[in-house]
Amino acid sequence: MTATLSDAELERHFERTIERDQRLEPRDWVPEGYRKTVVRQIAQHAHSEIIGMQPEGAWITRAPSLRRKAILLAKVQDEAGHGLYLYSAAETLGADRADLTDKLISGRQKYSSIFNYPTLTFADVGVIGWLVDGAAICNQVPLCRSSYGPYARAMIRICKEESFHQRQGYELLMTMMRGTEAQRRMVQEATDRWWWPSLMMFGPPDADSPNTEQSMTWKVKRHTNDELRQRFVDMSVPQAEALGVSLPDPDLKWNADRGHYDFGPIDWDEFKNVLRGNGPCNAERIAHRRRAQEDGAWVREAAAAHAAKQAALKGRAA
Ligand SMILES: [Fe+2]
Ligand SMILES: [Fe+2]
Repeated sequence: MTATLSDAELERHFERTIERDQRLEPRDWVPEGYRKTVVRQIAQHAHSEIIGMQPEGAWITRAPSLRRKAILLAKVQDEAGHGLYLYSAAETLGADRADLTDKLISGRQKYSSIFNYPTLTFADVGVIGWLVDGAAICNQVPLCRSSYGPYARAMIRICKEESFHQRQGYELLMTMMRGTEAQRRMVQEATDRWWWPSLMMFGPPDADSPNTEQSMTWKVKRHTNDELRQRFVDMSVPQAEALGVSLPDPDLKWNADRGHYDFGPIDWDEFKNVLRGNGPCNAERIAHRRRAQEDGAWVREAAAAHAAKQAALKGRAA
């Protein structure tokens, strides 16, 4: 785009790109509303990846074998990588990473409510992989076709890694289910605790989701919250059966007319309460992230001082 194009032409270019299902790139003009929506979505996603390292990270030192430790370590590191790709994608829209981090630790930007629940046993590591990463995959696969190019491309790589996460979780649970009675009980209890919060990961029902319509028009979002939630339920029921666990919902049953599973009402009061900061681990998660930010300050300062010194030396040599 050059400065010679009129506002109307820029607007038309933006709309046509979306209509033709092409990608908008950092060089393209986009309306301020689109920029804000995409930055908010990417930032919230990036924050979720980074905060999401904590619940499972807590088990790295207590993993039951070297093999499980290596797998878990790799998984948690992947989540850090996802956060980095996403912060970089947000930067292509003019967001500042330090500012985004500041918004996270001061509570001005959100992350997924799911990470405010505790991981009580090692079975939680498996159930998080199965259900939480599974729900993330349902949410994220359509985002590989998001209209914003850098986000869509980041999502392709992230989704590949998420499917490894889901499989490692499911394989861990399969192993535990073949173990002792106590291990089977741990898996069932963890499933009972994570099932409903996983359904909440898709966000409020469509009727209460004010941003959905605009995001769908801009092709930033490809399916509604309720559509994705249904897809996740339909996918999870046979997986639970194969695993040999029950899902904690007496209303869950196949509806032949709809061709989908019906499920019981979600406790949206709990969701709102956790989002408001009153979940079991909200304060702990943010305090931990803030501490990491403070502990890393000297590294960022040293790197900046080194870069300045190198630039000055280069300037002198020139
Ligand atoms: Fe991730
Ligand atoms: Fe993951």
